[in-house]
Formats: sequence, C-alpha cells, structure tokens
Amino acid sequence: MPEPLEQLEVAILGGGPGGYVAALEVARRGASVVLVEKENLGGTCLNVGCIPTKVLTTSAELLSRARRGAEFGLSIPQADVDLPGLMACKEKTVEQLVAGVEQLLRARRVRIVRGTGRLARPGLLDVELGGGRRESIAARHVVLAPGSVAARPPIEGLDLPGVVFSTGALQIDRVPERFAVIGGGVIGMEFACIYEALGSRVTVLEAARTILPAGVDETIAQRLQSLLRRRGIDIRVGIDVKAIEATSDGLRVLTQGPDGALVVEADRVLVATGRWPNTDNLGLEECRLSQSGRFIAVDDRLATSLPGVWSIGDAVGGWMLAHKAMVEGRIVAENLTGGSRRVDHRAVPNVIFTRPEVAGVGLTESDARAAGADVKVTQFAFSANAKSRILGERDGVVRLVCEAGSGRVLGVHMLGPHATDLIAEGSLAVQAGVTADELAWTTHAHPTLPEAMLEAALGFRGAAIHMHSR
Ligand code: NAI
Repeated sequence: MPEPLEQLEVAILGGGPGGYVAALEVARRGASVVLVEKENLGGTCLNVGCIPTKVLTTSAELLSRARRGAEFGLSIPQADVDLPGLMACKEKTVEQLVAGVEQLLRARRVRIVRGTGRLARPGLLDVELGGGRRESIAARHVVLAPGSVAARPPIEGLDLPGVVFSTGALQIDRVPERFAVIGGGVIGMEFACIYEALGSRVTVLEAARTILPAGVDETIAQRLQSLLRRRGIDIRVGIDVKAIEATSDGLRVLTQGPDGALVVEADRVLVATGRWPNTDNLGLEECRLSQSGRFIAVDDRLATSLPGVWSIGDAVGGWMLAHKAMVEGRIVAENLTGGSRRVDHRAVPNVIFTRPEVAGVGLTESDARAAGADVKVTQFAFSANAKSRILGERDGVVRLVCEAGSGRVLGVHMLGPHATDLIAEGSLAVQAGVTADELAWTTHAHPTLPEAMLEAALGFRGAAIHMHSR
C-alpha cells in the first residue's frame, strides 16, 4: 500500500530550477519537503546564468536599436551604456526573482536548509551548515539536483587576472577594448553579442568547424556565423587554444589554427568550453550510486540505481537547460508521490539569445536523415515577413523538417527576431505530432512574426503566399 502523502518526507539537494520546481510540486501534492541549498535559491540559472545574461542581452539589444533610431523615424542623440546602472538593473532583477522563489517555497511550507549536503546513504542526507554545525536529514525519498559547473579545459593560464568564466563575465566594471572568447558555443556566442553591443572588439576562438556545433541546425549556425562576421565579430574556427599569457597591457591567447599559429591579444578572456555535472563530493562513490562518466545515471522515471534516490537536471545529462530541469522536477515529483511518468524530451526547445536569436526543437535535417527518415525541409525567410520588416529585423529564417510523406513536423529551427519565443509553437507541433498542413490551416494573426511559421508550413506544398516559389 502506498504511504499516505502527508507522511511522506522528501529531501531535495539543490535549489536550482530542477530542485525548487520539484520541491514546489512535491509540496503541492501534500508531502513534506526539505530543500537543501548551499548558496542562493534559484541556482545557476537565476543567479549567474539565464536571468542575468538575459538582462544584459535585453539592454544590449535596446542599445543597438536606440542607435538605429533614425531608421524608425526617431531622433535619439546619444544612446550609451551606463555600466553601474546596467549592473544594478541585473542585480535587482535577480534579487526579485530569487526572493519570489523563496516566497513560493515558504508559502508551500517547504523547509529550506542552508548548507552543503551529501548523500550519507539512501534515505539520509548529511548537511554541513557552516561553523562546524551539521544536520542529518532523514527522508523516504532523496532527490539529487546539484546542477553543473563550468568546465576547465586543459589550457594554461586559466587563473590569470582578466580570464573569466561565465559568472565573471557577468560583472562588467569597464568595457574591455578587446574581448576574446574561447568556445563558440551557447555561452560564448551570447557573451560575444553582449560585449560587441557594449563596444568591445570581439574575437571568438572555436575548436569545431562552425560556431554552435552541438545540436543547432548546421545551415542556421553557418548563417549566424556569416551575419556576426559581417557585423565585425572576428570568428575563428578550427582553433586549438594552447595557453593564455599575461602581457604588459593585457592578455595574449596562443592558438594553433588551420593556417598555423595565431595569437590573439585581449583585455578580457572568457572561457566557455562547456559545463560539467556538479557531482564531486556528493557521496556518490561511497554510496555506490551508478554514474555514467561524471553524470548520475537514471532510468526514464529519473530513479537512480539506489532505492528512493532520484536525480534531475544538468547532473543527469542530456540538454543542460533550465526548462529541461524544470520538467524533470515535475516528473520526479509525480513519480515519488506514486505516479509513473516517463521522461519524454523529444520536444525540448534549444534557445540561444544571440542577436539575432537562434532556436530549435526536435530533429535537425541531418539528424533526421541519419535516422533514416525520408525528409522534406520547407523554409521561409523573415525578410518576407511584414512584422519583421516593421521591426527592422530582416535577417533570419524558419526551417521546418517534415516527414516527406505525411508532412509530420519532426523539427523546427529558426534564426531571427524573437526566435526564442516563436519556438513555442514548434515545441507544440513536435510534441503533438502536428503536420505541416495542420499548421498551415491554423490561422495566424497578421502582422506577426509567427506568420513566418505559417508560411514555412504552406511551403511544404509549395503554397507559400508571400514568397515566389517555382
Ligand atoms: P557548449 O557546449 O554550448 O559550447 C562549448 C563550445 O566550446 C563548443 O562549441 C566546443 O566546440 C568549444 N570548445 C570546447 N573546448 C574548446 C577549446 N579548448 N577551444 C576552443 N573551443 C572549445 O557549452 P557552453 O557554451 O559553455 O554552455 C554550457 C551549457 O550551458 C550548454 O549546455 C548550454 O546549453 C547551457 N546554456 C544554455 C543557455 C540558453 O539556453 N540560452 C545559455 C547559456 C548556457
């Protein structure tokens, strides 16, 4: 017989988007919950990730638009950045959202324990509270949601002053004249666009053949790369970074590229070469919990190899994204309160807040073809979308990857204005198995950006309205 929910006790390690959502959802279901967090609630996402970077990308976008005021019939004599104001805006937004999470948790009577937890054994968390104090928390279920940390690549000089990881790059006391980015992935490209808007000369050093090599539609990654190069960001690909050295007036990045040695001078260097699961010192080895490399191994219900121990978020691998962790928080809450929901990540959107934005969901064309699918790709350019013209944002494209016969949408990939918002329709299409015809017969408001989705769907039958096709 399942235990009555009011007697069920759940301990959650980690108060990021995975852990706090799991805590709220378990509490809503009537169980008692303890949430252990060593830093601020909200984890990387709220404190030093998604939220503060999006404050910076929003201000960077506003700044570059204000500088284009004349295009919109506006006279804005001088648009400039006020760095202390920008930092204050970022901090205020983070503080408000963190406080909001704390309020929600308290309202649901989640007990918050501030300390560093580790798994002592299934059903028992050992927490160091600071000042030599400890607490043992016994619970029927334990959820491990420890998140991830910035990877440290084998490059000499990572500890030099002026070399930062993503957390350090958020703190901008003065705009560096020369900003170098090691790793042209999601974090690297978002910061490249932020610093470029603020006025830095930006160089990106990427090991792969293009920027955004992982999980992004190749044609879209290529297009963004060309657009950003045209805007003046120096993107170098196929680069092997050897070391960073201090010079009399800054830093020097020593690399080997396709054309030989390349030296890049910079005032600030961002290292953004991926993230690792934050699984050290959690007691996993001592408890013999199965791992897959550094990640925690889980089944499709998010159960680990130990009874009553579950894990979610970046620590279990797959997309290292806040919204994927949040969904897993809801799944684990359902499962440990008697449900049996399985993870289904076919429609997790990947969103990148560059300028213009990139977003994708489902299979890319090459993934679908590699899986043996007979695929038809239909696309529509934002330059032919009325709202896009009104916004003065002509660059970009929507690509639908469809099953050739049925027209079922297998993937949606976009580059363009508000792509990170527009992808929601793509997620629904992929999740629900919608066809291009069904999308095409869904009336989309005019003049809006989602009409680009409609037109791409019409294009499946060569029937786009606002584009000539032979
Ligand atoms: P990433 O995996 O997206 O990109 C790392 C890049 O560094 C890759 O392009 C890789 O080829 C390159 N690289 C690796 N070693 C290198 C080296 N030694 N020299 C030059 N290039 C090298 O990782 P990133 O950007 O650090 O982001 C970490 C995670 O955070 C990602 O999983 C991402 O999904 C997530 N994230 C998501 C955001 C969003 O949803 N908007 C924003 C920021 C991060």
